[in-house]
Amino acid sequence: MQKFLIEGGAALDGEVAISGAKNAVLPLQAATLLANSPMTIRNVPRLKDVSTLAAVIEGMGVKVSFDADNNIHVDTSTIQHFRAPYELVRTMRASILVLGPMLARFGEAEVSLPGGCAIGTRPVNLHIAGLEAMGAQIVVEEGYIRAKCKRLQGARIVMDMVSVTGTENLLMAAVVADGTTVIENAAREPEVTDLANCLVQMGAHIQGIGTDKLTVQGVDVNALRGIDYTVLPDRIETGTFLAAGAITGGRVKATHAAPDTLDAVLQKFREAGALVETGHDWIELDMRGRTLKAVDIRTDPYPAFPTDMQAQFMAMNACSQGIGVIVETIFENRMMHVAELKRLGANIRLEGNTAIVAGMPNLKGAPVMATDLRASASLVLAGLAAQGKTTIDRIYHTDRGYERIEQKLLALGATIQRIND
Ligand code: UD1
Repeated sequence: MQKFLIEGGAALDGEVAISGAKNAVLPLQAATLLANSPMTIRNVPRLKDVSTLAAVIEGMGVKVSFDADNNIHVDTSTIQHFRAPYELVRTMRASILVLGPMLARFGEAEVSLPGGCAIGTRPVNLHIAGLEAMGAQIVVEEGYIRAKCKRLQGARIVMDMVSVTGTENLLMAAVVADGTTVIENAAREPEVTDLANCLVQMGAHIQGIGTDKLTVQGVDVNALRGIDYTVLPDRIETGTFLAAGAITGGRVKATHAAPDTLDAVLQKFREAGALVETGHDWIELDMRGRTLKAVDIRTDPYPAFPTDMQAQFMAMNACSQGIGVIVETIFENRMMHVAELKRLGANIRLEGNTAIVAGMPNLKGAPVMATDLRASASLVLAGLAAQGKTTIDRIYHTDRGYERIEQKLLALGATIQRIND
């Protein structure tokens, strides 16, 4: 298994080009199932999750090809069946995103239940309830969600909780349903907006994009065209590299970024003592000569502070001055990095989903293990700040969501290598 070996202590300094957003590409890949002609997605990061979703749709007979310029080309005309098997879905929950578009366009879908996952139970009841409200007949048997419909019907759907992929699934189904669908309490994450913008360019009619109420006028099931669409920049990758600048007392300029998707995060960096400047597509964080201060964080749906940046700010707090309280409200089991950060000497007290972090002048390198994607990012950050050597095991988690992270960090002056064990 591969590991990262990090020699901490160097202040990072330089520019890093941000990749396309993982969480935007996945729904866009699923949306290609709605296209009546070949479609191209540009600015696609080379990530394990992206190839998993490609394998899911390829397995149905769809033609999928990646080119050398980070584009994916998809042609659904050769689709043969509508099944997403357990072997793939269990490796990535977001595979559930094919359920809505497949059912809406082809009238049937069979998708393995994603099952539990390290950061919580993460059910898909809202996806199922929404599709049922649109007239789908759904049974869950033998570990599969089996859905059928003649033609989905527009409906008013009030989402019980704010769900990102839930909103995306229902939106993709609604765009080709018969009549008007209203999705209330919809997720407003930029990745949902990116999907909605793409669907509109394909020919869908959606109002309220970017708000918590999406109103969709359905078009014919085969009316959406394949288009050429460029994915928005990854706000979580951006935030992670800025955190690397902050935690090492350095300077990092993230280019090809989307500053307006990171308001709550940038505010917290400023509160933590960083100088943060933004331009149209760049963000620069400068921590040189400044003191990192602990900050209080509460995760909530967008536009509030994202759960996907919680672990990285935990690492920052662990190396700061003062005490910061971090409250996780989205997932019930997203504190697994706490035990690993403690191995590096962090002073963290966990009470349920609240972590009280007392900053330390120095962390010390140690062997640690990644437990999930963003936890792995927090360990990389802590390793960059710690004195001495840190090895991080199970970095396949990192590779699910960060494109060439060690190469990008090396270019910023970090001492990090991927080793085979
Ligand atoms: C997406 C993101 C993930 C991010 C999360 C929250 C993708 C591919 N992944 O995950 O990176 O951390 O949003 O911003 O975009 N819930 C239910 N029933 C459902 C669906 C969700 O109870 O049917 C609950 C979940 O257990 C969780 C909360 O709702 O507590 C939010 O989850 P959700 O927004 O659906 O997360 P994902 O879309 O899986």
